[in-house]
Amino acid sequence: MKESRRLLVKKPVNLANFNQGGLAKTLNAFSLTMMGVGAIVGSGIFIMPGIIAAKYAGPAAMLSFVIAAVVCSLAALCYAEFSSTIPLAGSAYTYVYTVFGEFLAWILGWALISEYLFSVSSVAVSWSAYFQNLLSGFGIKLPAFLSAAAGTAGSPHAGFNLIAFIVVLAISLLLVGGLQESTRVNSIMVVVKILVIALFIGVAIFFIRPANFHPFMPHGVSGLFKGASLAFYAYIGFDAVSTASEEVKNPKHDMPIGIIGSLIVASVLYIAMSIVLVGVVHYTKLNVGDPVAYALGVIHQNWAAGIVSLGAVVGMTTVLIVMLYGGTRLLFAISRDGLLPKTFQSLNPRTKVPVKSTWIFGVIASVFAAVIPLDKIAELVNIGTLFAFAMVSIGVIFLRKHETLQQIDSSFKVPFYPVLPIVSFLACLYLMINLQGFTWAMFAIWVTIGIIIYFIYGYHHSRVREDLAAKERK
Ligand code: ALA
Repeated sequence: MKESRRLLVKKPVNLANFNQGGLAKTLNAFSLTMMGVGAIVGSGIFIMPGIIAAKYAGPAAMLSFVIAAVVCSLAALCYAEFSSTIPLAGSAYTYVYTVFGEFLAWILGWALISEYLFSVSSVAVSWSAYFQNLLSGFGIKLPAFLSAAAGTAGSPHAGFNLIAFIVVLAISLLLVGGLQESTRVNSIMVVVKILVIALFIGVAIFFIRPANFHPFMPHGVSGLFKGASLAFYAYIGFDAVSTASEEVKNPKHDMPIGIIGSLIVASVLYIAMSIVLVGVVHYTKLNVGDPVAYALGVIHQNWAAGIVSLGAVVGMTTVLIVMLYGGTRLLFAISRDGLLPKTFQSLNPRTKVPVKSTWIFGVIASVFAAVIPLDKIAELVNIGTLFAFAMVSIGVIFLRKHETLQQIDSSFKVPFYPVLPIVSFLACLYLMINLQGFTWAMFAIWVTIGIIIYFIYGYHHSRVREDLAAKERK
């Protein structure tokens, strides 16, 4: 069979391209860590500990966060090896294109689109819950129908989440206007986030009642792992650090520190938050949209609830910006390879912003945010991301065997090779298995749509395939 007809046609590696990105190399380990914490810590910390404790793990929610942190660290090491070996934009999609070939890269790119799309929608839902909490402080209350999506727990009359819908469109508008992600603004918002979390912990820790920790694991080990599959959501975002690899001064040294460092900061915050939350409010009462503010209400510290809600809204805004921006960049990279229509790479000639893809992405994410309840969207984010992590993990083995790439000995290498990538791969699969049937069904539909799009469009327009066919004709 001709090379260009193969589904597994691989993106050729040109080592000479690696240092010619044209982007300024300004990022170091510290700025990467701040960027990671900015992208990771969002709605996960302000909402997930409550949902996980109430529905799955009980007070053992803190252990669910520990398990998820371990799985993420393994995958993070694999990401670090890839991003220091192939410092090109496109993150996991580009890695897989290089080592596994086009078809799997497309499936992975499609799964990553779901990660970014549903992350934006889910964070917008949390943003809305905390914003409504702030509004209620001023005596403003939305009609029940417009307060949340139909099917949201505890809101029987809900129908359409108006605020989530509007905030995604507003962020799209900002991005279309050419808003640049500046590391300084990001760092300030990260500090605000951490201070707000520290404020909650500092105030609430004095109201912990040991009785609330019993029964510790009401749904047993299985509840613990189900909780871990969901807690995984809270760590999503560290992969966004790897998209910056073209701009890092010393990827071998800085990338692993940035990725692992941001995971460590996030883990400490999550575990501390879960302990305090379930210690203050009985876990059965935590299945609410804004558990942190709710807990402060329970202990009559409403003065702090307002500050925490404001901090949560600021903190979640950075996640929205990074994920919406990242999603459009991903569409851009895929479209540049010819696997999606050119519309997605058309830039506004003046601002150089991919205006159409930002609006398409923003409108779809805002509709999802308005009509799907949070717990369902969060699982959809997880399954796509776990799938990507599983592929990146096992991909390390193929990366080491790659003829050209194995010549680069300056990159970071995962320790305990090949055990660590294999364990990471299996752990991601295990967490995927723990997600609900509904999530699997939705993911299957999503992947099927992706495969159809590939055969109708991508297969016939692929740049790599076209280049190969041209070579074969010569
Ligand atoms: N990890 C991101 C958050 O928790 C999705 O907001």
